[in-house]
Amino acid sequence: MVTTPHSGPVLSLEHAQKSFGAVHALEDGDIELFGGEVHGLVGENGAGKSTLVKILAGVHRPDGGRLVLDREEAIFDNTKQSQAAGIAIIFQEPTLFPDLSVAENIFVGMQPLKRFRRIDARRMRREAAAVFEQLGVRLDPDRLARGLSIADQQLVEIAKALTTNARVIVMDEPTAALATTEVERLFGIVEALRARGNAVLFVSHRLAEIFAICQRVTVMRDGRHVLTKPIDGLTIQSVIRAMVGRDMEALFPKVPAEPGRVILKVDRLTREGVFTDVSFDVRSGEIVALAGLVGAGRTEVARAIFGIDRWDAGSVEVDGRRLPPGSPTAAMAAGIGLVPEDRRQQGLV
Ligand SMILES: Nc1ncnc2c1ncn2[C@@H]1O[C@H](COP(=O)(O)OP(=O)(O)OP(=O)(O)O)[C@@H](O)[C@H]1O
Ligand SMILES: [Mg+2]
Repeated sequence: MVTTPHSGPVLSLEHAQKSFGAVHALEDGDIELFGGEVHGLVGENGAGKSTLVKILAGVHRPDGGRLVLDREEAIFDNTKQSQAAGIAIIFQEPTLFPDLSVAENIFVGMQPLKRFRRIDARRMRREAAAVFEQLGVRLDPDRLARGLSIADQQLVEIAKALTTNARVIVMDEPTAALATTEVERLFGIVEALRARGNAVLFVSHRLAEIFAICQRVTVMRDGRHVLTKPIDGLTIQSVIRAMVGRDMEALFPKVPAEPGRVILKVDRLTREGVFTDVSFDVRSGEIVALAGLVGAGRTEVARAIFGIDRWDAGSVEVDGRRLPPGSPTAAMAAGIGLVPEDRRQQGLV
């Protein structure tokens, strides 16, 4: 069981600093985590969130500042020490051992070898199953980790955190690679962790998520702590303002644009079972947004226009010339470029 012997923070990081050569990744990192609370951490790209997380993880040793755990100053030289102190980090894309089973991944490196040999696989399996049950998820402890979805890999890491009795659970952009239903499942688990009395630090770019599951939020900007407040007194607008340091209107001033002739014409484009009758024009000098929920088919439309996937009906015209379906070469020759959503995995085509 998780116990909080006093009402103060389980963990606090004060004025943490970390530089990499000339890069001041963190200049004033501050965070206080309480048991039974989900704390959101937000900030623009490069604000220093992951650097702060890696200090808690024992990956980076801070150049300055103080880390206090249960009122005692702590220094982590490595990730093992952070784990032993009850801190578990769930990264966006976990690194499991693909050839070990789910149960083996949960227990890997956690039991002294001598006892480990005596613990039979059955007990490992039983404990793994018990944790999954506690989390309310279905995952076979016997299956190999290879081929698990990212969401399920995260679950294995969370199960591991629970079997080591971690009190502080840190998630660095856990939802970035998840589908909507997986995000919902994760939210349920975060709430279960909170209800058990764990302190959860939840890093996300998606403010709606922060407002959905956090009780408090910390905003960082340029490596510095900007504010920490209960979520109740905040609006998405006020959090954005704190993140960017000014109003959105000042950041993206509306530029009057005079759209020219139609360059790209998409007419009743259909790919059976994926999207149907999608039509729009893009004129020169304008930016057109294609909006919709996750899974609505936006990516698929873009892939079809670029010729990666074929379409079954409708047409795509560039400068009045029809593109053949399913030909990226023709699309590129016509001057279309595609920046995929996951540039790291899919590369620039
Ligand atoms: N190992 C490193 N070596 C050099 N620079 C680094 C290193 N890690 C982080 N940085 C730099 O430190 C700054 C803060 O990075 P960090 O990853 O902490 O930001 P972040 O808030 O997590 O951003 P994101 O939202 O993109 O994940 C960035 O400018 C980044 O390029
Ligand atoms: Mg980061």
